[in-house]
Amino acid sequence: MVAVADKVVMVTGGRRGLGAALVDELLARGARKVYSTARSAYVDERPEVVTAELEVRSAASVAALAEVAADVDIVFNNAGILLPAPLLTGDFEDVTMTFDVNVFGLLRVARAFAPILAANGGGALVNMHSVLSWLAGSGAYGASKAAAWSVTNSLRFELASQNTQVVGVHAGFIDTEMVSAMDLPKATPAEVAARIVDGLEAAATEVLTDDVTIAAKAALSGPVERLTFPTAR
Ligand SMILES: NC(=O)c1ccc[n+]([C@@H]2O[C@H](COP(=O)([O-])OP(=O)(O)OC[C@H]3O[C@@H](n4cnc5c(N)ncnc54)[C@H](OP(=O)(O)O)[C@@H]3O)[C@@H](O)[C@H]2O)c1
Repeated sequence: MVAVADKVVMVTGGRRGLGAALVDELLARGARKVYSTARSAYVDERPEVVTAELEVRSAASVAALAEVAADVDIVFNNAGILLPAPLLTGDFEDVTMTFDVNVFGLLRVARAFAPILAANGGGALVNMHSVLSWLAGSGAYGASKAAAWSVTNSLRFELASQNTQVVGVHAGFIDTEMVSAMDLPKATPAEVAARIVDGLEAAATEVLTDDVTIAAKAALSGPVERLTFPTAR
């Protein structure tokens, strides 16, 4: 179990959306320092927040952040993109970009920070997936989140010997810019952030943030044709 109080934490994509809510939640629980990243420089006036530039598509950018943030105990791989296009007819570059951010970006950060977590006692790695890791109908995004889920599960295996808690998070719709065009019930970023950090602090290996996500995971043993998001049917 990793308690947040007095820990040094890093949140990718912490400037906005769910990442910003995670930064707020971590500070509320007593984190000593939170590195919060964005693709361009920005200012956060709170004394515990250290802002940093990060482009997860760039190994050099990830390595530069790891140089600066060598005191991190907990890493949140939150940064992600959703480029809505069908797999067959959408721009193929959108597919490769989605995987570059949501899968390879997450893995670049994990590879760069694993030695840091080990040096600092193990700590935790928290990776954002989605209910769409399990449900068809969201093109490259769902495919990338399925791959990220698998990456997380293997990282848990590979990081066990250094005592790093690895948490995979699956969430339904959250009210952020990512899904602003979708007129569906959404959880607030603050409530999702609280559930994620609750799971981390309770030694969870997986956090399912809402009932739709819990039902989707339960449906995995059933017929694959039923694994679609309600709007895709
Ligand atoms: N919203 C939902 O309904 C929902 C549901 C399930 C899971 N999720 C997942 O939750 C995470 C956060 O999503 P969100 O809803 O907060 O999305 P969002 O509002 O669109 O924010 C995306 C975040 O990712 C960062 N980012 C995007 N591309 C990046 C890159 N190439 N390098 C570094 N940072 C990058 C952005 O940083 P900048 O500030 O630089 O733009 C931003 O902070 C994502 O992994 C998403 O897939 C979201």
